[in-house]
Amino acid sequence: MTEDKILEDILERYNYSGSDSLIPILQDIQNELGRITEGAIVKVGKHLNIPTSKIYGLATFYNQFKFENKGEKHICLCNGTSCRLKGAKWNMVYLEDNYKLKNGQTTRDGRYSLEVTTCMGACEHGPVISINDDFYSKVDPETLKSILNDKNED
Ligand code: FES
Repeated sequence: MTEDKILEDILERYNYSGSDSLIPILQDIQNELGRITEGAIVKVGKHLNIPTSKIYGLATFYNQFKFENKGEKHICLCNGTSCRLKGAKWNMVYLEDNYKLKNGQTTRDGRYSLEVTTCMGACEHGPVISINDDFYSKVDPETLKSILNDKNED
């Protein structure tokens, strides 16, 4: 199904809705497209008669909305208090220095994306990361490097 058709179907579900439907509409778009596209913002704006700048402003305020596709290897890096105290920052520095990857970004080749999260519920094992559905504990830049090298061989 094309993006236009998906958006049409979503907006049809909110045919008689007002601006209070903005967040549920954006959530549906996020669920079905995996991200909020520029085209989606324009269509939602027309549908609800809201300026696109307001929609964009609201969507960027909430962490749940993404504007880029996830990479083949989606890295979630915990930056909760415990992981931060145990050095999560150095993993972020490693990803930025070696992959030019910052929170919410996807590498140009589409291989990696990074999402910095709050507590992942395994504080005693921190710093914690996940790559797709695999979780890793006590991660430092050296282990992160070898995890990513191993993942490249998958
Ligand atoms: S702070 Fe990272 S798992 Fe809890």
